Amino acid sequence: FMVDKGNRRHFMEKEIHEQPEVISHTLAHYVDFVSGVSKPLDLPFDFARIGRLALSACGTAYLAGLISKYWFERYARLPVDIDVASEFRYREMPLSANDAAFFISQSGETADTLASLRYCRQAGMKIGAVVNVRESTMARESDVVLPTLAGPEIGVASTKAFTCQLSVLAALAVRAGVARGTISPDQEKQLVRELSEAPRFATQVLKLEEQIERISRELSRYKDVLYLGRDTNFPLAMEGALKLKEISYIHAEGYAGGELKHGPIALIDENMPVIVIAPHDRIFEKTVSNMQEVAARGGKIILITDAKGAAQAGVKTMETIILPDVPEIIAPIIYALPIQMLAYFTAVFMGTDVDQPRNLAKSVTVE
Ligand code: AGP
Repeated sequence: FMVDKGNRRHFMEKEIHEQPEVISHTLAHYVDFVSGVSKPLDLPFDFARIGRLALSACGTAYLAGLISKYWFERYARLPVDIDVASEFRYREMPLSANDAAFFISQSGETADTLASLRYCRQAGMKIGAVVNVRESTMARESDVVLPTLAGPEIGVASTKAFTCQLSVLAALAVRAGVARGTISPDQEKQLVRELSEAPRFATQVLKLEEQIERISRELSRYKDVLYLGRDTNFPLAMEGALKLKEISYIHAEGYAGGELKHGPIALIDENMPVIVIAPHDRIFEKTVSNMQEVAARGGKIILITDAKGAAQAGVKTMETIILPDVPEIIAPIIYALPIQMLAYFTAVFMGTDVDQPRNLAKSVTVE
């Protein structure tokens, strides 16, 4: 069937704006917002009986997986091994038939991810596919399909599929925690309630469009951009950099805040905008020292934080994007939006083909 842009300039813009709705649909597939518990799901394995979870994916889907590693390990004490699929399939890691493997893919057709799936199948593992296309090869070849309900994603730059992947993985991490006894029934209710707030917060963040468009105009004047984040904001920093380079063609890198001193700080000068993704969380103070290091070298900071973080940052920023104060578990979902909007508007200012950037395919079906 036909999908059109509605009244939007690009599919990417439309897909960014669909997020409150599709995140809500996706979450509702896995959790019951009313009772606050996980919905029944026919899993081919028991989270309580596996020793670890293997994850594999490419690009943005890989970064969703990397964020979920923090969740599975934090909430369910379940060790997660994750690789980009092109490494996963060749690195000859020991695999156990008693463990499970999840493959994350919008299209369900990415060649390396599919090859990793088949590799784990051969090792006798139980296979879950977090896919957006229900009729895809990965969906067919898995033991359980864990759908994202993002609807068709046309823009080459993945946006709504990413936040829906995060929604599925967060809900699964909570479920795993309950199964493994690391989350009490009360905590489950609390976490499900927090998840259910994601669509409302996403709607609020979309209203920051004007400010983000203004910042993007400035960003489009630079040649290089550095993204920094800690904890789940580290993969998000890499996602920000990936999104910016793929559609605006501006060189960008995403780094863990703590790695700044180990190399990238050498690049910092007045020509280097640094986008710092830092809600006021348990390691906010550590990120503040990174910002001081950047500011001392003339780096231009664009801080994405909440009101408390903005008040306590104590450094001069070029711009501060203030998001609502959100629960920890949904922070990566909510903070993904300004990251996507920055890339989108910057690309628009650069005049690139936003929905079909050069050299890229929506789905990479050859190795
Ligand atoms: C995302 O913006 C990219 N276009 C790309 O990294 C993509 O996420 C990757 O190719 C994986 O695709 P898939 O989700 O269809 O497997």
